[in-house]
Amino acid sequence: MTRWYQEKKREHYYKLAKREGYRARSSYKLKQIQQRFHVFEEGNVVVDLGAAPGGWSQIAKEYVGVDGVVIGIDLQSIAPLDGICFIQGDITKHSSLEAIKEVLQKRDVDVVLSDMAPNISGQYSMDHAKSIFLAEQSITIVESLLRKNGNYVCKVFMGDLLDGFVDSLYTYFSIVKRFTPSASRKSSSEIYIICKYYKN
Ligand SMILES: C[S@@+](CC[C@H](N)C(=O)[O-])C[C@H]1O[C@@H](n2cnc3c(N)ncnc32)[C@H](O)[C@@H]1O
Repeated sequence: MTRWYQEKKREHYYKLAKREGYRARSSYKLKQIQQRFHVFEEGNVVVDLGAAPGGWSQIAKEYVGVDGVVIGIDLQSIAPLDGICFIQGDITKHSSLEAIKEVLQKRDVDVVLSDMAPNISGQYSMDHAKSIFLAEQSITIVESLLRKNGNYVCKVFMGDLLDGFVDSLYTYFSIVKRFTPSASRKSSSEIYIICKYYKN
Protein backbone atom coordinates (compact mmCIF):
# COMPACT_ATOMS: atom_id res chain seq x y z
CA MET A 1 0.00 0.00 0.00
CA THR A 2 1.46 3.35 -0.98
CA ARG A 3 2.10 6.15 1.46
CA TRP A 4 -0.33 8.29 -0.50
CA TYR A 5 -3.08 5.70 0.00
CA GLN A 6 -2.32 5.41 3.73
CA GLU A 7 -2.61 9.17 4.13
CA LYS A 8 -5.93 9.13 2.26
CA LYS A 9 -7.25 6.41 4.55
CA ARG A 10 -6.11 8.27 7.66
CA GLU A 11 -7.81 11.43 6.39
CA HIS A 12 -10.94 9.45 5.50
CA TYR A 13 -11.40 8.14 9.07
CA TYR A 14 -10.53 11.53 10.53
CA LYS A 15 -13.23 13.24 8.44
CA LEU A 16 -15.71 10.45 9.10
CA ALA A 17 -15.17 10.76 12.87
CA LYS A 18 -15.73 14.52 12.67
CA ARG A 19 -18.85 14.10 10.60
CA GLU A 20 -20.32 11.33 12.75
CA GLY A 21 -19.47 13.02 16.05
CA TYR A 22 -16.83 10.61 17.35
CA ARG A 23 -13.93 11.93 19.34
CA ALA A 24 -11.26 9.78 17.71
CA ARG A 25 -10.53 7.95 14.49
CA SER A 26 -9.89 4.91 16.66
CA SER A 27 -13.67 4.61 17.17
CA TYR A 28 -13.81 2.83 13.81
CA LYS A 29 -11.31 0.22 14.96
CA LEU A 30 -13.63 -0.80 17.79
CA LYS A 31 -16.60 -0.76 15.41
CA GLN A 32 -14.75 -3.15 13.09
CA ILE A 33 -13.81 -5.36 16.05
CA GLN A 34 -17.46 -5.52 17.13
CA GLN A 35 -18.68 -6.26 13.60
CA ARG A 36 -16.28 -9.17 13.33
CA PHE A 37 -16.20 -10.60 16.88
CA HIS A 38 -19.40 -9.42 18.63
CA VAL A 39 -17.77 -8.56 21.92
CA PHE A 40 -20.68 -6.47 23.32
CA GLU A 41 -24.38 -7.01 23.79
CA GLU A 42 -27.11 -4.65 24.84
CA GLY A 43 -27.19 -4.09 28.57
CA ASN A 44 -23.51 -5.02 29.09
CA VAL A 45 -21.22 -3.42 31.67
CA VAL A 46 -17.97 -2.27 30.01
CA VAL A 47 -14.70 -0.99 31.47
CA ASP A 48 -12.59 0.97 28.95
CA LEU A 49 -8.92 1.31 29.97
CA GLY A 50 -6.99 4.17 28.36
CA ALA A 51 -10.22 5.83 27.32
CA ALA A 52 -9.14 9.41 26.42
CA PRO A 53 -10.48 11.25 24.50
CA GLY A 54 -13.49 8.89 24.61
CA GLY A 55 -13.87 7.46 21.08
CA TRP A 56 -14.06 3.82 22.19
CA SER A 57 -16.39 4.65 25.09
CA GLN A 58 -18.78 6.32 22.62
CA ILE A 59 -18.88 3.19 20.47
CA ALA A 60 -19.25 0.88 23.48
CA LYS A 61 -22.16 2.98 24.75
CA GLU A 62 -23.90 2.73 21.37
CA TYR A 63 -23.71 -1.05 21.50
CA VAL A 64 -24.69 -1.53 25.15
CA GLY A 65 -27.55 0.98 24.94
CA VAL A 66 -29.39 2.81 27.68
CA ASP A 67 -29.44 -0.17 30.01
CA GLY A 68 -25.70 -0.75 29.64
CA VAL A 69 -22.91 0.84 31.66
CA VAL A 70 -19.61 2.22 30.34
CA ILE A 71 -16.82 3.28 32.67
CA GLY A 72 -13.73 4.82 31.08
CA ILE A 73 -10.44 5.49 32.82
CA ASP A 74 -7.35 7.34 31.65
CA LEU A 75 -4.32 9.22 32.96
CA GLN A 76 -5.77 12.26 31.21
CA SER A 77 -9.04 13.91 32.10
CA ILE A 78 -11.86 13.29 29.64
CA ALA A 79 -14.61 15.76 28.80
CA PRO A 80 -17.99 14.39 29.93
CA LEU A 81 -20.20 12.34 27.62
CA ASP A 82 -23.84 11.50 28.27
CA GLY A 83 -24.34 8.18 30.01
CA ILE A 84 -20.62 7.39 30.42
CA CYS A 85 -18.66 7.59 33.66
CA PHE A 86 -15.06 8.77 33.28
CA ILE A 87 -12.40 8.43 35.95
CA GLN A 88 -8.99 10.08 35.82
CA GLY A 89 -6.38 7.64 37.08
CA ASP A 90 -3.43 5.39 36.41
CA ILE A 91 -4.59 1.79 35.96
CA THR A 92 -1.32 0.49 37.39
CA LYS A 93 -2.33 2.01 40.76
CA HIS A 94 -4.51 0.05 43.15
CA SER A 95 -6.51 3.22 43.89
CA SER A 96 -7.79 3.19 40.28
CA LEU A 97 -9.16 -0.32 40.64
CA GLU A 98 -10.89 0.80 43.83
CA ALA A 99 -12.34 3.83 42.01
CA ILE A 100 -13.75 1.58 39.26
CA LYS A 101 -15.22 -0.80 41.87
CA GLU A 102 -16.91 2.10 43.60
CA VAL A 103 -18.69 3.09 40.38
CA LEU A 104 -19.60 -0.54 39.63
CA GLN A 105 -21.29 -1.04 43.00
CA LYS A 106 -20.78 -4.80 42.94
CA ARG A 107 -21.99 -5.23 39.32
CA ASP A 108 -20.00 -7.77 37.32
CA VAL A 109 -18.16 -6.57 34.23
CA ASP A 110 -19.06 -8.17 30.88
CA VAL A 111 -16.31 -6.61 28.76
CA VAL A 112 -12.88 -5.11 29.51
CA LEU A 113 -11.30 -2.99 26.75
CA SER A 114 -7.74 -1.73 26.68
CA ASP A 115 -6.61 0.65 23.96
CA MET A 116 -3.83 1.90 26.25
CA ALA A 117 -0.59 3.06 24.72
CA PRO A 118 2.59 4.31 26.38
CA ASN A 119 4.11 7.65 25.47
CA ILE A 120 5.95 6.84 22.28
CA SER A 121 9.73 7.26 22.62
CA GLY A 122 10.42 6.24 19.04
CA GLN A 123 12.65 3.45 20.31
CA TYR A 124 10.82 0.45 18.92
CA SER A 125 11.75 -2.25 21.45
CA MET A 126 11.23 0.02 24.44
CA ASP A 127 7.79 1.15 23.23
CA HIS A 128 6.89 -2.49 22.59
CA ALA A 129 7.98 -3.55 26.10
CA LYS A 130 5.99 -0.71 27.70
CA SER A 131 2.93 -1.64 25.67
CA ILE A 132 3.19 -5.26 26.85
CA PHE A 133 3.58 -4.02 30.43
CA LEU A 134 0.33 -2.03 30.11
CA ALA A 135 -1.42 -5.04 28.58
CA GLU A 136 -0.29 -7.20 31.51
CA GLN A 137 -1.58 -4.58 33.92
CA SER A 138 -4.94 -4.70 32.18
CA ILE A 139 -5.04 -8.42 32.95
CA THR A 140 -4.91 -7.54 36.66
CA ILE A 141 -8.12 -5.56 36.10
CA VAL A 142 -9.61 -8.49 34.17
CA GLU A 143 -8.82 -10.84 37.06
CA SER A 144 -10.47 -8.52 39.56
CA LEU A 145 -13.58 -7.52 37.63
CA LEU A 146 -14.48 -9.65 34.62
CA ARG A 147 -17.32 -12.13 35.01
CA LYS A 148 -17.10 -15.74 33.83
CA ASN A 149 -17.51 -15.93 30.03
CA GLY A 150 -16.85 -12.18 29.71
CA ASN A 151 -14.81 -10.70 26.85
CA TYR A 152 -11.58 -8.71 26.63
CA VAL A 153 -10.00 -6.62 23.85
CA CYS A 154 -6.47 -5.36 24.12
CA LYS A 155 -4.11 -3.35 21.93
CA VAL A 156 -0.40 -4.14 21.89
CA PHE A 157 2.52 -3.06 19.79
CA MET A 158 4.12 -5.90 17.90
CA GLY A 159 7.53 -7.19 18.94
CA ASP A 160 9.32 -10.17 20.40
CA LEU A 161 7.28 -10.27 23.64
CA LEU A 162 3.97 -10.47 21.80
CA ASP A 163 3.79 -14.26 21.33
CA GLY A 164 4.48 -14.87 25.04
CA PHE A 165 1.74 -12.42 26.01
CA VAL A 166 -0.77 -13.95 23.58
CA ASP A 167 0.09 -17.48 24.77
CA SER A 168 -0.54 -16.45 28.38
CA LEU A 169 -4.06 -15.34 27.42
CA TYR A 170 -5.11 -18.92 26.68
CA THR A 171 -4.90 -19.56 30.42
CA TYR A 172 -7.68 -17.03 30.91
CA PHE A 173 -9.87 -17.25 27.79
CA SER A 174 -11.34 -20.01 25.62
CA ILE A 175 -10.93 -17.98 22.41
CA VAL A 176 -7.94 -15.76 21.62
CA LYS A 177 -7.59 -14.07 18.20
CA ARG A 178 -5.25 -11.51 16.67
CA PHE A 179 -6.85 -8.82 14.52
CA THR A 180 -5.78 -5.71 12.66
CA PRO A 181 -8.80 -3.56 11.81
CA SER A 182 -8.67 -1.91 8.41
CA ALA A 183 -9.05 1.43 10.24
CA SER A 184 -5.53 0.85 11.68
CA ARG A 185 -2.80 2.45 9.64
CA LYS A 186 -0.84 -0.13 7.71
CA SER A 187 2.38 1.48 8.92
CA SER A 188 1.28 1.05 12.55
CA SER A 189 2.80 -1.71 14.66
CA GLU A 190 -0.38 -2.10 16.69
CA ILE A 191 -2.42 -5.25 16.80
CA TYR A 192 -5.59 -6.08 18.71
CA ILE A 193 -6.05 -9.27 20.69
CA ILE A 194 -9.67 -10.31 20.98
CA CYS A 195 -10.41 -12.72 23.81
CA LYS A 196 -13.76 -14.34 24.50
CA TYR A 197 -15.24 -16.51 27.25
CA TYR A 198 -13.22 -15.72 30.36
CA LYS A 199 -12.61 -18.91 32.29
CA ASN A 200 -12.54 -17.11 35.65
C1 LIG B 1 -4.64 5.54 21.89
S1 LIG B 1 -5.14 6.40 23.31
C2 LIG B 1 -6.76 5.75 23.56
C3 LIG B 1 -7.78 6.23 22.59
C4 LIG B 1 -9.20 5.85 22.99
N1 LIG B 1 -9.40 4.42 22.90
C5 LIG B 1 -10.24 6.54 22.14
O1 LIG B 1 -10.81 5.89 21.25
O2 LIG B 1 -10.51 7.72 22.36
C6 LIG B 1 -4.21 5.62 24.58
C7 LIG B 1 -4.50 6.15 25.97
O3 LIG B 1 -3.87 5.29 26.94
C8 LIG B 1 -3.71 6.09 28.10
N2 LIG B 1 -2.84 5.42 29.10
C9 LIG B 1 -1.54 5.08 28.97
N3 LIG B 1 -1.06 4.55 30.12
C10 LIG B 1 -2.11 4.55 31.00
C11 LIG B 1 -2.25 4.16 32.37
N4 LIG B 1 -1.21 3.64 33.06
N5 LIG B 1 -3.45 4.31 32.97
C12 LIG B 1 -4.48 4.84 32.27
N6 LIG B 1 -4.42 5.24 30.98
C13 LIG B 1 -3.24 5.11 30.35
C14 LIG B 1 -3.09 7.37 27.52
O4 LIG B 1 -3.23 8.43 28.42
C15 LIG B 1 -3.92 7.55 26.23
O5 LIG B 1 -4.96 8.46 26.39
